[in-house]
Amino acid sequence: MRKLRCARCPRLVALRRRLKRQYPDYHNAPVPAAGPRDAELLIVGLAPGLHGANRSGRPFEGDSSGDLLFAALNDAAARLRNDGLQPPRWRITNAVKCLPPENRPRAAEIANCRPHLVREIGELPAPGAILALGRVAHEAVLAAMKLNGSEYPFAHGARYDPAPGIGLFASYHCSRYNQNTGRIDKKALTAVIEAAMRYQP
Ligand code: URA
Repeated sequence: MRKLRCARCPRLVALRRRLKRQYPDYHNAPVPAAGPRDAELLIVGLAPGLHGANRSGRPFEGDSSGDLLFAALNDAAARLRNDGLQPPRWRITNAVKCLPPENRPRAAEIANCRPHLVREIGELPAPGAILALGRVAHEAVLAAMKLNGSEYPFAHGARYDPAPGIGLFASYHCSRYNQNTGRIDKKALTAVIEAAMRYQP
C-alpha cells in the first residue's frame, strides 16, 4: 500500500517516528479513507487507534472499536435487506488521519486535517448520509461543512438535514471505553446506522 506523507502536525509526526522504531511492522502513517469514493454513506470516526488503524492502515480495522462498528454495519445492512432494500455502500474515514497521543487530537491538528474531510464530504453523492462517531467527529464534520455548532448540537441519535440531499447522523463513538462504560453497544449503534442507511431527503 502506498503511504501518504504529511508533516503538518509536528506532534503527530514525532509520534509516528517513535512508533516506527517500536512497531516497525505497523502502518505508522496517515490512514486514508476506505471504501468507494462515491459511497452513499460516509462514516467519520475520530482518529486511528494505535493497534487498529495505525497498524492495519485502514480505518477501524483491527481493534475493538472496529469490531463493534463492522458488526453493527453488517446487522444494519441485513435489516435493510430483510425489508427488500439495497443497503448503501459505505466509506469510512477519520476526522484526523494520524494517530494522536492518548487518542486526543488538538484543535490545530483537527483543523490541519480538515481539507481531507472537506474533500471526502464533497465526494459524497446526494442523496447521501454522513454518520459522525462521537462529538469530536461531529464537530469536525460541522466545521468542514461550515455549519454552526449551536444549530446542530451533538447528541446520540441526532439527525439533521444540513444541505440539500445530505443527512447528518450522530452516534456516541464505539470506543472500547464507551463500550466498557455501557454508553454504546451493538444495539444502540446498529439503530443509528440503520437510520442513516435508510436516509431519504
Ligand atoms: N479506529 C479508527 O480508525 N477511528 C477511530 O475513531 C477509532 C478507532
